[in-house]
Amino acid sequence: MSKRITAIYPGTFDPPTNGHLDVIERAAKIADTLVVAILRNAAKGTPLFTVDEREEMLREATAGFGNVTVATFDGLLVDFARARRATAVIRGIRAVSDYEYEFQMAMMNRKLDPDLETLFMMPAEKYTYVSSRLIKGVFQLGGDITELVPPVVVQRLKTKKVIGAAVPGAE
Ligand code: PNS
Repeated sequence: MSKRITAIYPGTFDPPTNGHLDVIERAAKIADTLVVAILRNAAKGTPLFTVDEREEMLREATAGFGNVTVATFDGLLVDFARARRATAVIRGIRAVSDYEYEFQMAMMNRKLDPDLETLFMMPAEKYTYVSSRLIKGVFQLGGDITELVPPVVVQRLKTKKVIGAAVPGAE
């Protein structure tokens, strides 16, 4: 019997971008089941969107994929992965600057669970500069981000818009 691969794509997703969706599409071709997992207790400052809002946006944006589910998790990623019987973690790498942080996380996760592999995937070139942090900042200042995020995110961002306000939160 061939192995069935469950992979976890963890992140903050505040908000999800087309770069995230591009990685999801690529990972969904490789994994039998892909679980997009939103970290609940992120230490990155005040998020713009609640976890529930991010979950709803990701559900809507990934509705077309038959093998993608959306979940949330607390605590260690390796514990969540084990609970889901996942054998791989997917992370997107946009540029060399992402590498150091990603390498450290992958090695720490390997130390915590040697059976869990981290797979790095590169989004399409046109999304290499896209980050959730930049999307929030550009949108708040009136810039057009419609080609860079799913339509549901544009709609939700409009409900949050406060002209001229600094945007807290991170990646
Ligand atoms: O989208 P992000 O913010 O870069 O995602 C970071 C995330 C959620 C993947 C990472 O912070 C994480 O896995 N946190 C869970 C806590 C954990 O397992 N820490 C040990 C590994 S470094």
